[in-house]
Amino acid sequence: MRTGVWLVGARGSVATTSIVGALALRAGLTGPIGCVTELPEVRGPALPSFTDLVLGGHDVVTTPLAKRAEALAAAGVLPGRLVAALTDELAAVEPELRLAPTGGTQAERAAAIVRDLTDFRQRHRLARVVVVNVSATEPAPRPHPAHADPAALRAALTGPDEVLPPSSLYAYAAVTAGCPYVDFTPSTGLRLPALTALADEHRVPYAGHDGKTGETLLKSVLAPMFAMRHLEVRSWSGINLLGGGDGATLADPDANAAKVRSKQRLLGETLGYLPQGGTRIEYVEELGDFKTAWDLVTFAGFLGTGGRLQFTWHGCDSALAAPLVLDLARLTAAAHAAGHTGPLTDLAFFFKDPLGTTTHALADQWTRLCDLARRLHEGGTDAPRR
Ligand SMILES: NC(=O)c1ccc[n+]([C@@H]2O[C@H](COP(=O)([O-])OP(=O)(O)OC[C@H]3O[C@@H](n4cnc5c(N)ncnc54)[C@H](O)[C@@H]3O)[C@@H](O)[C@H]2O)c1
Repeated sequence: MRTGVWLVGARGSVATTSIVGALALRAGLTGPIGCVTELPEVRGPALPSFTDLVLGGHDVVTTPLAKRAEALAAAGVLPGRLVAALTDELAAVEPELRLAPTGGTQAERAAAIVRDLTDFRQRHRLARVVVVNVSATEPAPRPHPAHADPAALRAALTGPDEVLPPSSLYAYAAVTAGCPYVDFTPSTGLRLPALTALADEHRVPYAGHDGKTGETLLKSVLAPMFAMRHLEVRSWSGINLLGGGDGATLADPDANAAKVRSKQRLLGETLGYLPQGGTRIEYVEELGDFKTAWDLVTFAGFLGTGGRLQFTWHGCDSALAAPLVLDLARLTAAAHAAGHTGPLTDLAFFFKDPLGTTTHALADQWTRLCDLARRLHEGGTDAPRR
């Protein structure tokens, strides 16, 4: 099942790490550590193999992929020996990375994206192309009446206004081209009524939002523990320090607010109340792609006697994210092949701000993921859970 993976933001840290990782796995130069789809509970015949994956994408910059990979190797994100061993493979992906269309109306730009996707699908004889958004986090867009309805949206896109933020224009083009769409970012993407209706019309599945790779991953384990032990969380405060392109983007207050909003859903929906405190994200250039999160939790137990928990998470963001990008592409491709449409709520395991579900507990999400994988591997049309 030859499957296209089209990365929006294809020259960024997460995308470059995903591309190098996929090429290294395909060449047998590395093992699948971090790839959930290679665990016995999830792997199986319904998933395209790493060899089946064909990579392409859009970006607004033209820095050669090999240069981006070398820079990530110099920063300690990628092993330099892998980048050196994959010179030819990276050169072969380079022509599949297209400049994001500019100029004209949004309808014209969407049509250009659709052309790039369908050309890619036909040229490589792909069964399908999964579009994965890993581009820079956007601020929330201004509401627009055309966001409510597909016909109004199609008409509005032909005018001079910027009706959709970039992530949503890619989502619009993806579903119009019949491609499943995954949003690994907190940006709006497909989360507009006009776009979800359009995805239903085109019978494509979609998944999101915002990959769960660090602080929120730990929260999704620890918050259910407090709830199950009937301990009352009084406060939960966290600070995330990061550099890299993502950190620089999040220095913008509006993009920062979108990311913080995405991280905040879990506590209220897991505990049933909101403890004091919040999450902060700060840009520290020196840290590069290595993120540190500190959290302090205070709680009350039996007879009101309190306690405290602190944790420090120190991880390489792109190396944590890239295997999940490959997992999501493989699972979404298999779901599309099995006839799924609409939100893939069983993929909540991967996301901070999961679509169509309030289940944030990692253990419950894992059970749902394993059930989905089992149904996909058993074959059949596997009616989607809505
Ligand atoms: N690394 C993680 O652990 C993690 C976890 C969850 C979510 N994310 C999200 O993944 C995204 C990517 O992170 P990153 O570290 O790779 O960031 P990055 O800044 O290194 O890469 C973003 C890329 O997107 C490109 N881009 C910007 N606007 C674009 C547009 N309109 N069209 C096409 N490309 C565009 C940029 O040129 C850049 O190459 C961010 O939104 C981040 O919040 C990352």
